[in-house]
Amino acid sequence: MPASTAVSVGAIDLKSPLICGSGEHLMYAQGIRHALAAGAAAVVSKSTNESEAARRQLDRTDYVLLDSEWRSVPWDFSPPADASLLCRSGLAQQPFDEWLAMLAGLDRGAKTHDAYVVASLVLADLDRCVEMARAVEQAGLRILELNIGAPHGNEAAPGAIVLERDSLRVRAIVERVRAAVRLPLWIKLTGQSEDVAALALAAKEAGADAVTVMGRFIVVTSAVLTGGFDVITRMNDDFSDYLARKRLSARDLIGRAADQISTYAQQESRPEYWRQFVVPAALT
Ligand SMILES: Cc1cc2nc3c(=O)[nH]c(=O)nc-3n(C[C@H](O)[C@H](O)[C@H](O)COP(=O)(O)O)c2cc1C
Repeated sequence: MPASTAVSVGAIDLKSPLICGSGEHLMYAQGIRHALAAGAAAVVSKSTNESEAARRQLDRTDYVLLDSEWRSVPWDFSPPADASLLCRSGLAQQPFDEWLAMLAGLDRGAKTHDAYVVASLVLADLDRCVEMARAVEQAGLRILELNIGAPHGNEAAPGAIVLERDSLRVRAIVERVRAAVRLPLWIKLTGQSEDVAALALAAKEAGADAVTVMGRFIVVTSAVLTGGFDVITRMNDDFSDYLARKRLSARDLIGRAADQISTYAQQESRPEYWRQFVVPAALT
């Protein structure tokens, strides 16, 4: 029996933890269909909001891949393992109604892959965001992700993209959206804040079903954007192999790392141990 890769996010059962993060490659139906066909359990659409300035920001982006020697790497969808993506981005190019109709159709189709297409909004004006969230629900989409932590929020035109780092405001935003819609609500937060756990708790207490904490450091947007949709299939295969090798299911892994965090007081005392990690010249 192959190991089970199934997990749950709130009340949503996913066939695996592989959720494709939002990005340019998921702006149009073709990209989303490729990601689903490659085996993603959920595909988060390219985000939108009501701001024309946020949409036009995509006209002024640039993208570069640098290797560990800071050399620019060709953009050929086969990057070396040490490549890092540096870029800017803007929002989906379609008008909202077109974007929504496309996603509703794709999410209906995703059911046949036992998968989800997630509508993604980026906060600008809260009243408009609430209206858009209602429209997403009415269109029949099964999950809404709301990004209130986009890293380029501070660089965007005023009012185009909100980057929220204050837990009281996170709570107020999530409460408003939660009161307006009943569908599963995932809140995407910045990972670059002094107290990410407080932001996550505020979102949870205000009614979020899940939070996504983004950095720019681990895979499933940059890897697929730069490496193509085969990356999804490879990730799924690697993950299944790993679970089989370890005789674990995906659910067995949840919380393992967190449960093993120990305090200084709990760690074994090893005087002088640190010396092994210092260049000998510094100790003689
Ligand atoms: C080019 C690019 C465009 C992105 N666009 C969006 C977006 O429209 N909405 C959003 O919520 N996140 C967006 N993100 C953030 C990603 O979904 C993801 O959270 C982030 O890149 C971290 O994951 P990664 O390290 O796998 O890339 C974008 C990221 C990149 C690199």
